[in-house]
Amino acid sequence: MASEWTERHAERSLKRIVPRLRKNLKTEISGAPEEWNQFEIRLHREFHGLFQILVELYGGHYDFFYHLEALLAAAAESWMERSKDLKALDAAREARPDWFHSQEMVGGVLYVDLFSDNLAGLSDHIDYFKELGLTYLHLMPIFAVPHGNSDGGYAVSDYRAVNPQIGTMEQLAEVATRLRREGISLVLDFVFNHTSDEHAWARAAVAGDPEYQEYYHIFPDRTLPEQYEQHLRDIFPTIRKGSFTWHEGMRKWVWTTFNSFQWDLNYANPAVFRAMVEEMLFLANTGVEVLRLDAVAFIWKRLGTDCENLPEAHKIIRAFNSVARLAAPSLLFKSEAIVHPDEVIRYIDARECRLSYNPMLMALLWEALATRRCGLLELAMHNRSRIPDDCAWVNYLRCHDDIGWTFDDSDARSLGIDPTAHRRFLNEFYTGQFPGSFARGLPFQFNPANGDLRISGTLASLAGLEQAVQAEDPVLIDMAVRRIILLRSIVMSIGGIPLIYLGEEWGLLNDYSFASDETKAGDSRWVHRLKTRWAEMASWKTPQTLERRIYDEIARLIRLRKQLKALYNGGMEVISTQNPHLLGYVRQKNGQRLLVINNFSEHPQTMGENRLRLYGLGYRFIDHITGKERSAREPLQVDPYQFLWLENQAS
Ligand code: GLC
Ligand code: GLC
Repeated sequence: MASEWTERHAERSLKRIVPRLRKNLKTEISGAPEEWNQFEIRLHREFHGLFQILVELYGGHYDFFYHLEALLAAAAESWMERSKDLKALDAAREARPDWFHSQEMVGGVLYVDLFSDNLAGLSDHIDYFKELGLTYLHLMPIFAVPHGNSDGGYAVSDYRAVNPQIGTMEQLAEVATRLRREGISLVLDFVFNHTSDEHAWARAAVAGDPEYQEYYHIFPDRTLPEQYEQHLRDIFPTIRKGSFTWHEGMRKWVWTTFNSFQWDLNYANPAVFRAMVEEMLFLANTGVEVLRLDAVAFIWKRLGTDCENLPEAHKIIRAFNSVARLAAPSLLFKSEAIVHPDEVIRYIDARECRLSYNPMLMALLWEALATRRCGLLELAMHNRSRIPDDCAWVNYLRCHDDIGWTFDDSDARSLGIDPTAHRRFLNEFYTGQFPGSFARGLPFQFNPANGDLRISGTLASLAGLEQAVQAEDPVLIDMAVRRIILLRSIVMSIGGIPLIYLGEEWGLLNDYSFASDETKAGDSRWVHRLKTRWAEMASWKTPQTLERRIYDEIARLIRLRKQLKALYNGGMEVISTQNPHLLGYVRQKNGQRLLVINNFSEHPQTMGENRLRLYGLGYRFIDHITGKERSAREPLQVDPYQFLWLENQAS
């Protein structure tokens, strides 16, 4: 479409729409004229870009201008309804847009029902979050879902109602406000790729309403599904072969990328985009500061492609982002794209997602722990982790999901590693089958067609603690704890927001009881979705317990991180330590320079003194972790699984 055409039409539409918005909101505007002015200023700034994207996506629809106007009306209304508190937050963020880069940022994530039964219980634990040092709290999906299996809440039946077992919308808004007052940002999921089959839209579709059947990808027979399936990957292959589910009631096929009760939304329909924008704005006004864009890679489909990471998926996110900037300017998006590292990076952009999970770092930290070698991690960090300065990684070790081995095959080959054999090795290692493995993980979603497999398990069980505790072997226990702390320290120091999957701070082990619950037995991710046992925790808090040791070390790392200005999210330079077991990088910011050295092996290692001088820029260093001095007049000795945060003392 000619850009001159778009420019002209953008201008005309704006001229036509603004007076109509003003008219509709007359009463609200007369009560808060200044707030309305702010909206108009943003609208003028944002409109051309938004119009351009929407024309590209939906320009061919006869009712394009109708949807456009309705969208802006929703944004305008939402802004005028936004609370004073949140508008103050918008202004504060505008004044300090780099707030999430601070080294003081530390994230936590939990399931409300497993952590504190419900939202009322959660409020009682705010002191706990503060004690740990959290400034960011992601509550796993808490909205209304079908009974029984709901994919851990990721099958949403109503985006405006909290699951009654967990609480109410009022409680959610209250929690958001209380957290914000304590300096903790609330993060929630925006599960926008699919709804549950019990959502009102899906019910209307089942009832035969053609308008709502167009909300999803519904097919009368297998012809199109078969054509699509030639190029699709199976995400949950143990649930069903292929990505489509037969619906007996409609006698039709429905696109279901994940579970059969999770129906993919049809974003080619502008009504769907508009409807989901309204749900997003509603969430934004409850006080959410960051929305995690769930399954972002899958939102656009095109025949003949794998229907992942398509250009239109990026446009949809840009459009959501643009509307958010109009109506809830402080809202940030976090991308959940668990795909090839080069595709992950493409969502990380101020116009799309400011934040993103870092699945490559996550997977390769586990890879390095298994192999005791850092080559692949080093190469990948060097080649594939650059993101724009105004965006940040969210670094994690474990989350509610599985570990998939998302590294680049050519990186592996360039190091003489066969990627397929290597993934097989990693799967054998982390399911504990490889001889000498310390890990106790479970297989997730084995696909016999191609041998693909992912891994479930808690941080502690995968790092060797479960096996060591069972063996009652103090040396093995010590090694396992060192591994846990080593990995934890890296996500604290490497740049970005470190994220703790709560329970990790106590070194919690796998819980195998899910196998006797029929709604969970088929999904091994439940092995690492643990109920917090507060009563037991009281006893862990006593000195000398294993749990206490882990907790104290992690809490200490968090306090230390917050004091080091170099850990403000900025550049990170991977260095060559010339020792395959040592991962090194430099963090430099705000007049401070840290050289971080991590030993991935259970044996002592050394790094040459010339390397130390070259990257540390000096002769005398203080190691912030131990408080001890180190000299570059001799080789650097690094204990098993030790990590050093070195700062030059001369300066
Ligand atoms: C995301 C969630 C995962 C869920 C899937 C479908 O990947 O993290 O738990 O199964 O989306 O919503
Ligand atoms: C796939 C998806 C990811 C999801 C995971 C759940 O890896 O890409 O979005 O979290 O499956 O297992």
